[in-house]
Amino acid sequence: MPEIALTSDPAHLRQGSSIGQPLTRRDGPLKVTGGARFAADNHPPGMLFAVMAVSGIARGRVTALDVAAAKAHPGVVEVMTPENRPPLAGDPDGKDSPFSFRLDALQNSAVRYPQQPIAVVIAETLEAATEGAALLAPRYEAEAPRTGLDGSAPFTPPAVGAGNPASASHGDVEAGLQDAARVMEATYETPAQYHNAMEPHAIVAAWDGPRLILDTPSQGMAMAQARIAGLLGMEAKDIHIRSPFLGGGFGSKGMLNGPQLLGILAARLTGRPVKLVLRRDQMYGPVGHRAPTRQTIRMGTDAGGAFTAIANHTRTATSTHDDFIEPAADVTHTLYATPALATSHDAVRLDTGTPMFMRAPGEAPGSIALESAVDEMAEACGMDPLAFRLKNYAEVEPASGKPFSSKALRECYAKGAERFGWAGRLLEPRRMRDEAGLLVGWGMGTATFPALMFAGNARAVLRADGTGLVETGAHDMGQGAWTAFAQVTADGLGLPIGRIEFRSGTSDLPDAGIAGGSAHMATVSTAIHHAGAAVIGKLAALATGDERSPLFGAGNAGVVAREGRLHRRDDEARSESYAEILARAGLEEIEATGTGAADPASREAFAMHAHGAVFVEVKVDPEFGQVRATRVVGAFAAGRVINPRMVRSQYFGGMIWGVSFALHEKAVTDARTGRIMNANLAEYHLPVNADVPSLEAILVEEHDPHVNPLGIKGVGEIAITGTAGAVANAVWHATGVRVRRFPVTLEALIG
Ligand code: MOS
Repeated sequence: MPEIALTSDPAHLRQGSSIGQPLTRRDGPLKVTGGARFAADNHPPGMLFAVMAVSGIARGRVTALDVAAAKAHPGVVEVMTPENRPPLAGDPDGKDSPFSFRLDALQNSAVRYPQQPIAVVIAETLEAATEGAALLAPRYEAEAPRTGLDGSAPFTPPAVGAGNPASASHGDVEAGLQDAARVMEATYETPAQYHNAMEPHAIVAAWDGPRLILDTPSQGMAMAQARIAGLLGMEAKDIHIRSPFLGGGFGSKGMLNGPQLLGILAARLTGRPVKLVLRRDQMYGPVGHRAPTRQTIRMGTDAGGAFTAIANHTRTATSTHDDFIEPAADVTHTLYATPALATSHDAVRLDTGTPMFMRAPGEAPGSIALESAVDEMAEACGMDPLAFRLKNYAEVEPASGKPFSSKALRECYAKGAERFGWAGRLLEPRRMRDEAGLLVGWGMGTATFPALMFAGNARAVLRADGTGLVETGAHDMGQGAWTAFAQVTADGLGLPIGRIEFRSGTSDLPDAGIAGGSAHMATVSTAIHHAGAAVIGKLAALATGDERSPLFGAGNAGVVAREGRLHRRDDEARSESYAEILARAGLEEIEATGTGAADPASREAFAMHAHGAVFVEVKVDPEFGQVRATRVVGAFAAGRVINPRMVRSQYFGGMIWGVSFALHEKAVTDARTGRIMNANLAEYHLPVNADVPSLEAILVEEHDPHVNPLGIKGVGEIAITGTAGAVANAVWHATGVRVRRFPVTLEALIG
């Protein structure tokens, strides 16, 4: 049986504080009783069902649709095609930032990728809409699809990821390789992967006069609101988005997508509320994916095993009509010290949906290649992989020279290795067996993810009844973010968690920015913290300026807020409750706002990353090559832990995805048709319970006063990064076979 260890870490529990407590999800009971209303659960009166018809070819154009047959089907109300799609004020093919993706919204008859929407059938029932869509029987003029990483002429993109340079270097790599005592060069390939959130993309769109009401899962409501406003020629304030629950996102719900726009347009066309939910196979096209990569890594070390040079050239793919360039080589800049380093990217244009941010974009595919290469280099040096990493990890960011939190990384190496029992590892591969004769391998990988922040806002209120409120348009993809924000709220307002209200998840609340880049907890918590401090400041001013208060004359800095009371710092016995202060001032409530954003001065001075180390055991059947990950131990340092239960759960999720990356996931494209052959959850392999090993996540304590006032770094993405490479390295250690094309398959091990 897989076992998930919940070893508690008392160091994170602070007395009298909500922050640090392993609270369970506040929305847990709603979710397990079916009371949580996800977007597709909404059913406004008069609602119609929309079903997309999607392209069966990868490239070409639609020459005929049997609209008459679909319209004649009982229950079908309307068929939306490029002929009758309502006009747009903005160009869906417009792009003004790396976060605005070109959308397919029935512009014309062109087909740019398989599963592209080509029509929408709108009916009284889901069944009628589904049947109507099938009756469209599209005909096409098909052209030969471009597939694979050599599918078209490569180009050098102007930028990668969210705007990083496509290439970067320092020192002289060629000289470094020339002078090296040992060199290695290898090419690693990672496949296209699809987000596959459990909740499919969905929208319920209803027009209320000039206002547009949208129930749709979103990782970035304010950004979606602005984009929709531009496309429809509306004011953002007239667009109301509700996104209280998400069943996963992983990046695919970060930006407005084409099907959302089609749902809105279907409601405009019919004048009735419309629900549009993607089928699972329709999620393999218009809503993003992780692009494939081919990474060529060259490394050199001196006689003592210290790097003299590292280079990564990454080839990746984007669509024919938009640019998202998976920044896979960039992680090479953030882990290991070397006097010479060069990274570069190029890309090919394929007849595929546009790739997009997907959990640890860049870092996930980049680190499975980098950590494999580091392991190969250690092997060439005859060194233990941990000893090799301890020799080479960076104390300062290689390019900028800014200091890292490398002490935390050292602790992750030490704690993870000890817990795993790494010291008992034999250096040579294929030497360890279990009692059943299976080959046993132990591998490790370093985890890293930048500690980013976006900009977000919050509003805090203290009420005369002694309760408090925080409002912020934040997002919870299912990981328990709102529970953690409520904990930050309680501490920010100096109230027990039972006396606070936390409102979130709609676009009319203060803009909290995007839930992405593992930055939401840091950004929004900082906003809440500042809003709380501001409203407590107002309360303190009321008390300390009032002769009738026991706090009179103490000054704002002379009071401390705790459990709904302000105390004099110099004499804690002299205190007054929030309710008393507000009552005497004759106020129902007071409020203040706060903003969370990165501090440019500290970002200038420090390289900010979360770190970790992951240790994996695999067992491999020597005859059949079947691999099972049997044990994963990760140690992670990511600043202040708001809720250890949620944080550990994020680490488990990341580690499971790391196992999945190394052993399971791959979208397979048919080179003849350009179609994805496994666009379903039966054949697109994901780990199920039986594939999930014993997991353990160690929370390494880290106090980083520079990232933000609460010392928070993100935890959503880091754990996939070390794990995938650790699994690959464990497979090598078990078998002596170095697999460089992922996922690892049976035939690679027995072939
Ligand atoms: Mo994440 S890929 O930034 O949702």
